[in-house]
Amino acid sequence: KPEYKVTLLGAGGVGKSALTLRIISGQFTPSYNPTIEDYYRHDTNVEGVGQCIVEILDTAGTEQFASMRQLYINSGDAFALVYAIDNLDSFLEVKEIYQQLVEMKKPEELLVILVGNKCDLKSKRTVSTQEGIQAATQMKKCPFLETSAKDGTNVEEFFNTLVAAVDKK
Ligand code: GTP
Ligand code: MG
Repeated sequence: KPEYKVTLLGAGGVGKSALTLRIISGQFTPSYNPTIEDYYRHDTNVEGVGQCIVEILDTAGTEQFASMRQLYINSGDAFALVYAIDNLDSFLEVKEIYQQLVEMKKPEELLVILVGNKCDLKSKRTVSTQEGIQAATQMKKCPFLETSAKDGTNVEEFFNTLVAAVDKK
């Protein structure tokens, strides 16, 4: 069975853990527990890939753990850059993380998907869909999706796209 390593990066509170929980167990919890580092081995069937094991690394967004990022980038195959559509700072942060990825990875090794999470919070939106699309275009035309860990919108699509990208490599 093939194994793939995917890593979620992004600012604190954007929903990396909520997306992970939704992928692993189909659930959502409204409470917030900042992550230090969580690791899952997810045995699953991915559309277009088949049965596989996906190692999911759910990282800490909190600034004090930002130094860990280099390690994550070194060891990861593919990266989800997650921001929240109601948090402009988190959008700026994914752009910074992308720069760090570009510096550390060879272009042909760089697999990224840009994710605008919390798309259920329509009335609180401060990052437009168009801005997300534009940022993804600048990130070497990486895939872009708006997701909601809360209502499940595009979560499976996000996960499938990421794993399928590593599979094709
Ligand atoms: P760190 O571990 O600190 O980096 O944060 P995180 O990115 O893992 O965020 P987490 O998944 O813990 O979510 C933070 C808060 O946002 C929690 O209260 C979640 O319930 C909430 N949340 C996450 N995703 C969504 C979403 O899609 N919609 C809404 N409305 N709330 C969400
Ligand atoms: Mg977390």
